[in-house]
Amino acid sequence: MGQVVWITGASSGLGLHTAQALARNGFTVVAGARSFGKGKKAEGCQCLPLDVTDQKSIDAFAAEALRLQGTPDILVNCAGMLILGACESYALSELRQVMETNFLGQAAMISKVMPLMREKGKGRIVNFSSINGLLGIPFEGAYTASKHAVEGYSECLSYEARPFGIEVMLVEPGDHRSGSAAYRKHSLGMTEDSPYKAAFAAGTAQIAHDEATGSDPDILGEKIARALKRKRLPRRLRIAKADQHLAVVLHDLLLPGLFERIIGPYYGKKKSS
Ligand SMILES: NC(=O)c1ccc[n+]([C@@H]2O[C@H](COP(=O)([O-])OP(=O)(O)OC[C@H]3O[C@@H](n4cnc5c(N)ncnc54)[C@H](OP(=O)(O)O)[C@@H]3O)[C@@H](O)[C@H]2O)c1
Repeated sequence: MGQVVWITGASSGLGLHTAQALARNGFTVVAGARSFGKGKKAEGCQCLPLDVTDQKSIDAFAAEALRLQGTPDILVNCAGMLILGACESYALSELRQVMETNFLGQAAMISKVMPLMREKGKGRIVNFSSINGLLGIPFEGAYTASKHAVEGYSECLSYEARPFGIEVMLVEPGDHRSGSAAYRKHSLGMTEDSPYKAAFAAGTAQIAHDEATGSDPDILGEKIARALKRKRLPRRLRIAKADQHLAVVLHDLLLPGLFERIIGPYYGKKKSS
């Protein structure tokens, strides 16, 4: 039997591609997502219902996964969602929903597996961040805040977990062709009379274009499988096109005002496809 992986958010997009890549590479994959309770499946994986925002659901997932395959060697925290909107216009409930799924959901899963891994004296935790965990872009305020939280939390966890033999890796994808439009909601605050209407239309068109022309999610899955086979787990795995790597470097090097003047107009131009 291969190493046992628990992976969240494995019913679509990068989570599904990663779960299937891990199964192809000989890992024993227990996959969780809400829609696994409604008959959806991920090839090669044992699929269990899981809502990472609900502690009872996490407890039930863990109990069943433990019964099926025993203590996990690896946790991959991939469940995520996005609400596009202007910072000023988000409802607090929308900000909470994004934080609860993307950040608190990861934290709850980490708290669930850490005692199991500590008892075993080893383990690996892989947390999905994003290029947005490293820099902000217009109309992704809620998502960017949640991914910055993931970055900070994972760095702290890495210090704390390593003495127990547990390694932590952040995955920082750039745009990928995940085809997950259902998970890209627009904020209720983006009404017809919003002062941001034109800027929002241009910005979201650019975001949609970048995703549609993004990287291949199968390659990301294979890169994560390769990293997990290494003797030492890298602290960070950034998987992005060259221009997004460059954006992160420039973000850290340039004066903030200059970076904003370069990136701002990029999200202000409309794309037709
Ligand atoms: N796609 C990209 O270009 C990109 C770029 C950078 C980072 N990322 C990150 O990669 C991860 C996957 O993104 P994606 O765009 O590929 O995925 P996606 O297709 O949007 O799917 C999101 C996944 O998360 C699950 N999910 C959402 N809420 C959940 C909850 N409360 N409990 C359990 N599962 C939940 C969904 O399953 P159910 O609805 O069945 O629960 C689904 O499997 C996310 O963390 C995202 O931030 C993606």
